[in-house]
Amino acid sequence: MGQRIDARPVSGALGVEIHGVDLGAELDNSTMAAVREVFFEHGVVFFMNQDLTPEQHLTFARRFGGIDVNKFFEPVDGYPEIAQVRKEPSDTANIGGGWHTDHSYDEDPAMGSMLYARELPERGGDTMFASMYAAYEALSPGMKELLASMKAVHSGARAFSTKSRANEENRSAKFRLSDVALKEVEHPVVCTHADSGRKHLYVNGGFTTRFANMTEEESAPLLQFLLQHAARPEFTHRFQWRPGSLAFWDNRCTQHFALNDYHGQRRLMHRVTIQGQRPDA
Ligand code: SIN
Repeated sequence: MGQRIDARPVSGALGVEIHGVDLGAELDNSTMAAVREVFFEHGVVFFMNQDLTPEQHLTFARRFGGIDVNKFFEPVDGYPEIAQVRKEPSDTANIGGGWHTDHSYDEDPAMGSMLYARELPERGGDTMFASMYAAYEALSPGMKELLASMKAVHSGARAFSTKSRANEENRSAKFRLSDVALKEVEHPVVCTHADSGRKHLYVNGGFTTRFANMTEEESAPLLQFLLQHAARPEFTHRFQWRPGSLAFWDNRCTQHFALNDYHGQRRLMHRVTIQGQRPDA
C-alpha cells in the first residue's frame, strides 16, 4: 500500500472504517490508491464525520468512475446524478428493505454505490452488508462446481413496477417505471471480481428471479438456498449511521439491506452510483 491510511476492519467478513480522510478535500493519488485497495478487498468502507456538499460527494465518486444515474429514484433537486433514498414519516415501506445488489438488472451493473447520510431517524435505520466473497468461499467443492457454469436472470420489474408493494407503500420514492425495469438480463452465478481477482457469488434477493433456461419454480429451491446462505450472520456487518457518515460499497461482491424500523420518522440519504462493467465468470 502506498500512502498509509487509518483503516480499521469492523467485522470478520467485510467492512472497514477509514479514519482521518476528509472526502471534501482534494485527495492525492496515493491516498486514493490506499482507499481503493481497502475497498476492493473488504467490500464496503465507512467514512465518519464528513461534511459534504452534493458537488463534493460527486467529485469523490468520480474518482472511481463515471456516474450511473439511477432510473427509478427521485433525484436531488438540481443534481440529476444524485438519487434520494428517502422515507417520510407517513411511508411504511423504505427503499432497499431486503437483501439486494444495486443495478444487477442492468447489462453493465453499477460497480459501487456511495450513500451519504443527510437526515437520520433518532434511532434505527441501520444498513446490513453481506460479503459475497465469504458466501462463495464457504460453499462445498461440489456446489462450487455445479454453479461454475450457471447463469441467473436479473430484473427490476418485481421491485420497481408501479404495482410493486414498495411503490405503493413508499409514496415519497415514487419509482419511475420505465421499460428498462421490465427487461431481463443474464449474469454468471459465480463471478470473478475484475479488481481483486477473487471469486464471489452474484445472486441477490431483490433482482435475481431464476436461473437461465429454467422456470422460477424450478429455480426456487437452489436460489432460495443460495440467498439464505449468503445472508448467514457471519458473512454480514450491521452499520449504524451517524450524522456525516458515508458508506461506499462494492456492488459486485456485496449485498445490502436497509432496515425499516423507524416508522413515523424521516430518513434522507443521498446516493451516487458508479458505473461498472458486465461481470465475468
Ligand atoms: C440502498 O439500497 O441503496 C439504500 C440503503 C440504505 O438506505 O441504507
